[in-house]
Amino acid sequence: MILVTGGAGFIGSNFVLDWRRLSDEPVVNLDKLTYAGNLDNLASLQGDRRHVFVRGDIGDSALVDSLLNEYRPRAILNFAAESHVDRSIHGPADFIETNVVGTFRLLESVRSYWSKLGASGKSDFRFLHVSTDEVYGSLLPDEAPFTEEHPYQPNSPYSASKASSDHLVRAYHHTYGLPVLTTNCSNNYGPWHFPEKLIPLCIHNALGGRALPIYGDGQQVRDWLYVGDHCSAIRHVLASGRIGETYNIGGLNEKTNLSVVQLICSILNELKPRADGKSYAEQITFVQDRLGHDRRYAINANKIREELNWAPAETFETGLRKTIQWNLDHSAWVSRVTSGDYKNWIDIQYQSAAPEIR
Ligand code: NAD
Ligand code: DAU
Repeated sequence: MILVTGGAGFIGSNFVLDWRRLSDEPVVNLDKLTYAGNLDNLASLQGDRRHVFVRGDIGDSALVDSLLNEYRPRAILNFAAESHVDRSIHGPADFIETNVVGTFRLLESVRSYWSKLGASGKSDFRFLHVSTDEVYGSLLPDEAPFTEEHPYQPNSPYSASKASSDHLVRAYHHTYGLPVLTTNCSNNYGPWHFPEKLIPLCIHNALGGRALPIYGDGQQVRDWLYVGDHCSAIRHVLASGRIGETYNIGGLNEKTNLSVVQLICSILNELKPRADGKSYAEQITFVQDRLGHDRRYAINANKIREELNWAPAETFETGLRKTIQWNLDHSAWVSRVTSGDYKNWIDIQYQSAAPEIR
């Protein structure tokens, strides 16, 4: 069986759902259920004996040791993290605690478990660490996309904490021989995406008649990948990635934030027109920029494509249309995750920048 951490979050739950659909191999899912983790994402697995959910912290060594000894996984996929850049700017402590200290404690438990396996168990074992393109820093408009050799230049507390975790993973391979794999992926979007991130936030705000907040001039560039394509890339790396290697994953979809939001508006105009017949684009509002905002990310995904024969299935247009339709079909999920604490975050982050406009 495999052990997934953070499997109640956005990407982790997509990965677990796809895994259960595509494989008979059981999965143990360890998640702390922070504000970003949601068991509703996994409701379709209720009664499935090949999915075991455990609520807990990757930094709880006693719990992780006991799970490893009980379930004896052949692989661990580490999705668990604090993941929102803006939250890391307001309060970095949780990011250091989970992404750095938590990953360190997890690695210690895994090292102890792995070191006691027999020879074939040891060589077949994998620790796959899910990371981000943000560790590479920001690109100028004419610079080539990030390759795996690009120097680490993290600029936010979030990306610095992820860079630290990547370094620890690398060190555990180099020093102890732990069979690790690291993936560095670009921006994901798709089902179960928490509406604090740009795409689901703008879909949610558009439908609620609120402002669509664009930081600064909206000309920052991100390289968007549909979450199902990220999950398929992770399965390729787990199955055939070379031990100790890093694989960049990206969608070849460089877009400015403003153009992403404009496309959301035009798809929504078609799928769910505003009652007054006007375009959702009227709700676009420029707000104060993010501190230290990285200008451009772009991924060179040649290595995973050439070595592991992976390619994304979705274009940005097909993936975004599916995502918007998913949000329209799952309004009850969106309502549930935006009740409670969500409002406090929106108040802190946007203050009066996102007023009701109709
Ligand atoms: P998310 O915030 O939606 O989910 C994170 C999950 O981890 C939540 O379910 C949360 O409850 C859980 N978690 C947090 N702290 C934990 C802890 N200490 N112990 C156990 N569980 C804990 O994040 P996501 O967007 O799904 O990202 C998953 C991973 O992918 C992260 O490592 C992130 O850095 C990386 N990543 C994300 C993107 C993206 O665009 N979202 C892109 C590239 C890489
Ligand atoms: O690049 C991969 C990263 O992508 C992941 O490692 C992170 O976990 C994930 O959150 C994401 O980080 P970003 O900061 O790029 O995503 P976010 O959706 O927060 O923002 C996307 C862009 O949109 C970014 O340039 C900031 C901008 N933005 C964001 C919000 C929330 C706005 O203009 N307005 C907003 O309200």
